[in-house]
Amino acid sequence: MKNIKVAVLGATGFTGEKLIEILLNHPKVEINYISAVVEKAASFSSIFPHFKGKLDLICDNLDLKKAASADVIFLSLPHRVSFLYAPYFLDKGKVVIDLSADYRLHDTKVYKDYYGIEHKDKNNLKQAVYGLPEFFKPKIKKAKLIANPGCYPTVSILSLAPLLKEGIITKDDIIIDAKSGITGAGRKAALDYHYAHLNQNLKAYKVFGHQHLPEINQVLGEITKSKIDLQFSPHLVPMERGILITVYAKLKKKVSFKAIQSVYKKYYQNAPFVRVFDCLPSLKDVIQTNYCDIGFALSEKRLVIVGCIDNLIKGASGQAVQNMNIIFDWDEALGLG
Ligand SMILES: NC(=O)c1ccc[n+]([C@@H]2O[C@H](COP(=O)([O-])OP(=O)(O)OC[C@H]3O[C@@H](n4cnc5c(N)ncnc54)[C@H](OP(=O)(O)O)[C@@H]3O)[C@@H](O)[C@H]2O)c1
Repeated sequence: MKNIKVAVLGATGFTGEKLIEILLNHPKVEINYISAVVEKAASFSSIFPHFKGKLDLICDNLDLKKAASADVIFLSLPHRVSFLYAPYFLDKGKVVIDLSADYRLHDTKVYKDYYGIEHKDKNNLKQAVYGLPEFFKPKIKKAKLIANPGCYPTVSILSLAPLLKEGIITKDDIIIDAKSGITGAGRKAALDYHYAHLNQNLKAYKVFGHQHLPEINQVLGEITKSKIDLQFSPHLVPMERGILITVYAKLKKKVSFKAIQSVYKKYYQNAPFVRVFDCLPSLKDVIQTNYCDIGFALSEKRLVIVGCIDNLIKGASGQAVQNMNIIFDWDEALGLG
């Protein structure tokens, strides 16, 4: 298939910028439209000098008609914003890949509880496909609207789903202790993300009410066809990027290290971006990559799983490109290094 045109809305955000970097190296696409919220239109390379000579397109406030000249529209927009624009593009038959949370949760009441407002596009919610290729590839292939997974959910679901589905661990008492770098919160300024506050600091937040909790429970519940209700405790650490989770789970019965490894291998043998280790993985090995690395340690009763990703790549923009590749029947790893 020849090249397609893509648009990136929210181009100046952390995920938008990363998406553009990946798309510029993708052999099958041409970026033909970008937008953000700007006082004055400016070339992208004047906003981000490292794009000089690579992308000099003008970045202006969103013009829906111009954006719709692309075949694929990436929405790197805040939640509560994506669903205002997605319907326009879907009505025109475009492929929409939404990086926000607006189309991830099936239950609009849960959406309201965690995102604070009524869902504004219940119609299209029904056709949204959760873009986690390792589990939903057949649906992704036919999708017009991708709900690209959240960063914490991506690594949490990939780490837990095979073992839950195979009945290796109990559904009860699963605890995810998660640590994220600062880019996970987006580029906006806020006191908590101020250098003086963040540097040499470490803090837990939203230990019972993080917005990614219902997403993790929903998707693990779907994969395992059971109700999942786990504990998710996120932490903010003074790093630029990356997420590492430590999961505490109880074994249903005694099981060998090798048996657990072979369960993971069975699920991920055709997944180019999941690597299963026989030691505990570390963050530096996944930064700037689309990999999710998983390892574990085992005692008689308990299993500790460690998973890590780059939040801006496998946790957002890399996964969005992986989904586009699947929709267009290209190599899943095209442009992803
Ligand atoms: N950061 C991550 O690690 C990560 C991971 C997975 C998913 N996500 C999700 O991906 C989305 C983007 O995240 P991000 O970290 O890139 O956020 P961000 O850094 O805050 O960027 C948001 C972008 O959207 C633009 N924007 C804001 N309000 C808008 C509006 N009303 N209309 C049009 N454009 C608007 C912003 O423009 P200005 O900058 O000019 O205001 C900016 O370009 C979010 O929904 C986030 O939850 C983020």
